[in-house]
Amino acid sequence: MKLSKQLEKLGTETAFAVSAAAGEWAAKGNKVYPFHLGDINIPTPGNIVEAMQKAIGDGHTGYCPGGGIPELRAAMAHDVGSKRQLSYEAENVSIQPGGKPVIGKFLSAVMNPGDEVLYPNPGYPIYESQIEFQRGIAIPYGYIETEAGFDLDMDALSSAINEKTRVLIYNNFQNPNGAQSSRQEMEQLAELALKHDLWVLSDEAYFEIQYSGKPDSIANIPGMQERTVILYTCSKRFAMTGWRLGAAIGPRPVIDIINKLNTNIESCTTHFIQRAMVEALEDTEGPDIILKTLRERRDAAVAALNAIDGVSVAAPNSTFYLFPNVNNIMERKGLTDVDQLMHQALVEANVSFCTRKHFGRPTANEKNDYIRFAYSGIEVEDIQEGMASLKRYFES
Ligand SMILES: Cc1ncc(COP(=O)(O)O)c(C=O)c1O
Repeated sequence: MKLSKQLEKLGTETAFAVSAAAGEWAAKGNKVYPFHLGDINIPTPGNIVEAMQKAIGDGHTGYCPGGGIPELRAAMAHDVGSKRQLSYEAENVSIQPGGKPVIGKFLSAVMNPGDEVLYPNPGYPIYESQIEFQRGIAIPYGYIETEAGFDLDMDALSSAINEKTRVLIYNNFQNPNGAQSSRQEMEQLAELALKHDLWVLSDEAYFEIQYSGKPDSIANIPGMQERTVILYTCSKRFAMTGWRLGAAIGPRPVIDIINKLNTNIESCTTHFIQRAMVEALEDTEGPDIILKTLRERRDAAVAALNAIDGVSVAAPNSTFYLFPNVNNIMERKGLTDVDQLMHQALVEANVSFCTRKHFGRPTANEKNDYIRFAYSGIEVEDIQEGMASLKRYFES
């Protein structure tokens, strides 16, 4: 029996293969230090768990509207809008089972076959997968490494735009490199979107994972709200990765289409989880504890990485990822493929991490090798132990 040819275009999150390798190594009796997956081992705040149990007890176990329950849509419109100094109505919000579904549904709503879509690479791998699966042309843009982290390669990005470019995918607070745009960088991006009449997907999955200062959104730049869909998720902010709750927030015509897609695909997002979230959205205590824990882990991971001879990394102000350049280590080890480094680190140091190759197809002319550490699923003591083990391996 033949399967759809279009499936050849569907990518995946290859980080899950790293989990499998780490799991196999652990099953052989080894203690693995897991820095590979951006999952969170901090419990979901108790008030959300209680509200969810109450919602089930109250009988909210049936179907609900495809776009989400009106109370949650209104609460999210207020929450997302007020944090971005923007005004949204409930009708601007489509509730989703997580942030991830927003990517494919947004593209289905705005992209036609053959349209070019700019997307960050290295970046969240589902962008490339969904663009190509839905018959768009994926046009990567990259970042330039600086002392303080990473800046968008604005020259490359602007010169990639042509009359076929329809969409820009932008991930401020970036996975995997932790990049955070200055207001000026965001304005340059907005200027390009306005000049070339582009739709923008602003992936703001890490908007609330900020260690200092207030986050900013491209939707808040004049002229941008009406062409931007925000990807929102409860996964990171409330340590709810497995609950699956997120939203698309944007202009009414796109949100109406996304609601229709919801009805076609999953009917609705889990009803009692939506009920639980209505009150939890206002909670700051739970997210504050999560953030404090993540900050301690970030500081421990940054200090330990910088103690390795040949590695230097700046502390990102947002996300829970570190993306160090490992050119020196590759040279010391005589390696040419960063995946070899990943395999050896697991066996020699019991440390698992992803590499740049897990975040979109590497583009021609890339000269640097990077690996990615997620510190959201590993406690400070294990961060220190794991990094000490990695130091011994990297320095030998
Ligand atoms: C940049 C980015 N966007 C979107 C998502 C999707 O998150 P979720 O589907 O868990 O809400 C993730 C998850 O890791 C991410 O890193």
